[in-house]
Amino acid sequence: MFYICAQMRKIKIAIDGLSGCGKSSTAKAVAKALAYKFIDTGAMYRAVTLYFLKNDIDWNKPEEVNNALSSIKIDFQYNSETAKNETFLNEQNVEEEIRKMYVSEKVSPVSAIKAVRVAMVAQQQEMGKNRGVVMDGRDIGSVVFPDAELKVFMTASTEVRAERRRLELESKGERVDINEIIENLESRDLQDSTRAESPLVKVDDAIEIDTSYLQFEDQVQKVLDLAKERIAAV
Ligand code: DC
Repeated sequence: MFYICAQMRKIKIAIDGLSGCGKSSTAKAVAKALAYKFIDTGAMYRAVTLYFLKNDIDWNKPEEVNNALSSIKIDFQYNSETAKNETFLNEQNVEEEIRKMYVSEKVSPVSAIKAVRVAMVAQQQEMGKNRGVVMDGRDIGSVVFPDAELKVFMTASTEVRAERRRLELESKGERVDINEIIENLESRDLQDSTRAESPLVKVDDAIEIDTSYLQFEDQVQKVLDLAKERIAAV
C-alpha cells in the first residue's frame, strides 16, 4: 500500500477510455487512496444533456445552445452517507437521473457540440489547476490536461462492459436488455471516437490498461503503482 506524504508534489492523473470500462470507479478509488480530488467529466456532459432534454433545447440551433449553456451550473458535492461525489445541476442533485438510459442515448451528440466542449473544458481546467486531481473522460490526456504526469487509457471487451453496465442499472432498479446496452456502448464508442471535436484517442504517452479480465482492486492497484512512480519522479 502506498501512503502519500505531505511533502510530495501532487500530480494530475488523466484516465480516458471507452464507455463503461470502469474509468470512473477506478478514478474515484485512486483519488481516495491518494487523497486527491476526483472529477467525473462524463457526468458533466450527462448533466448538460439532461438540461437540454428537460428544457426542450434544440441542440442543432447554436443560439439556443449558447443561451442554455449560460444558465447551466454544474457542481460536485461529496455525500458522506453514500460515500459518493454527487453531481448537481443548478443546485439540484441529478446524480441518479443522469445515469439513466434516456440520457445515455443522447449524450454523445450533445458532447460533440463545440460550444458544449469549450464550456466544459474551461470548468475542468479550473477544477484541476492546483493538481492533486484524478479526472476521467475521453479527452483529458489529449485536450484538458495534455501536461498530466500520468495518462491512462482504459479498455475492456464490449461484452464485459455491457454486463457490468447491466448489473449497475439493475442495482438501481432499471431493467435493460443486454442487447440495448451493447448497442448503446458501441454507438457511443463510434460517435465519441469519430467526432470532429476532441475525439476519443489514445495519446502516445498514455498507458493502456485492458480491464476485461482484471478484478477491480487490481486495476486500481495498477493505476496507483503508476501514480507512485510518477509522483516520485516530480
Ligand atoms: O464517461 P461517461 O460514459 O459517463 O460519458 C458520457 C458521454 O460523455 C460519453 O459518451 C462521451 C462524453 N464525454 C466526452 O465527450 N468527453 C469527456 N471528457 C467525458 C465524456
